[in-house]
Amino acid sequence: MKKMIRDIDVANKKVLLRVDFNVPLDKQGQITSDGRIRAALPTIRHLLEQKASIIVCSHLGRPNGKQLPDLSLRVAAERLSELLNRPVKMAGDCIGPQVQEMAQNLRSCEILMLENLRFHSGEKENDDSFARALAGLAEVYVNDAFGACHRTHASIVSIPKYLPAAAGLLLEKELKMLGGLLENPKHPFVGLFGGAKVSDKVEILENTMDKMDVLLIGGAMAALFLKAKGYEIGQTAIELNEINTASALIKKAAGSRVKLVLPIDLVVTETIDTNANAETVLADGVPPNMKIVDIGPQTVNDFQKKLSDSRTVFWNGPMGIYEIPLFAIGTKGMANYLADIDATAIIAGGSTAEIVDDLSLTDRMGFVSTGGGAALKYLSGTPLPGVEALPEAQF
Ligand code: 3PG
Repeated sequence: MKKMIRDIDVANKKVLLRVDFNVPLDKQGQITSDGRIRAALPTIRHLLEQKASIIVCSHLGRPNGKQLPDLSLRVAAERLSELLNRPVKMAGDCIGPQVQEMAQNLRSCEILMLENLRFHSGEKENDDSFARALAGLAEVYVNDAFGACHRTHASIVSIPKYLPAAAGLLLEKELKMLGGLLENPKHPFVGLFGGAKVSDKVEILENTMDKMDVLLIGGAMAALFLKAKGYEIGQTAIELNEINTASALIKKAAGSRVKLVLPIDLVVTETIDTNANAETVLADGVPPNMKIVDIGPQTVNDFQKKLSDSRTVFWNGPMGIYEIPLFAIGTKGMANYLADIDATAIIAGGSTAEIVDDLSLTDRMGFVSTGGGAALKYLSGTPLPGVEALPEAQF
């Protein structure tokens, strides 16, 4: 059991809080989904109650060691300030004499947001002097950046060497909810998988499949599985090199308790655009000149029926091309249904969480993980470096 924020003394201390404010931005640089910022609020409020001074740090995008103004965390600082209804100071950098001075002058209950950690290559390279410079700003380190815990970056794995450290409330909750899926999911346990990149999901399917009662597969992933079963999938783009993987998973499912369910019908189109001429066909009737872009209405009904008596659901990946409203019907059908049923619905994966947020359903789901790659890695059974780096709790 790792040390949690309640296990350490943060009262009146200067706390370096690592969060994952890697939020999606539109072309104007505005935040399109602030879920990750809102998810850090419980920890920040706890620190405020303890009269700590809070130095918040995060990465945003992949600037590769360059100072890119478009990837400044200023927008996140502004959003945080709105959500907390209190000022958040913005530093011009994340290390250096000016930042040190700002950190030194920070009073109890004041918040300082450091500039993007990845403006320095030392972050990604896990450079020890960079980690020490960050640690030098504070007295205590709290990691609440679940979404970045799969990275062996300086602010994630090296600061606990230099400061008393603990997991924040979000990290604690993520580990509890996702860990619960692996350890003791309530049955019936249904997995709902979609999205394009099957290669990202093989390990998680291998690690969780035999705990599931039903595995529903939609989205582009279904096309791969249908192809592996010898169905025509027309012009649908799939990861051809993953066909054998899909066949192996089909075989594994056949030999275990899980019932693997593929779509009955599909929405197909010749061109992928907002005015496309889409039609619905049975899964064994995809015309050779068409592409699969969504699950069909019979499949939506069938999947909903299979979810109806579930007690735990894990969902990752859209059922179709969600960005185009015409092809978002299957995904919306699943999301709305999951928000309504009694089961604990656990959602993980960057795009799936964004969809749930876009549909304003986050608060109606059992739990929406803030981790994309981190959640998938954790559910694959791989220890997360950021969690491993934290000290064990002592009782
Ligand atoms: C994420 O968005 O999954 C995390 O913030 C990690 O970002 P990265 O994939 O750029 O390391």
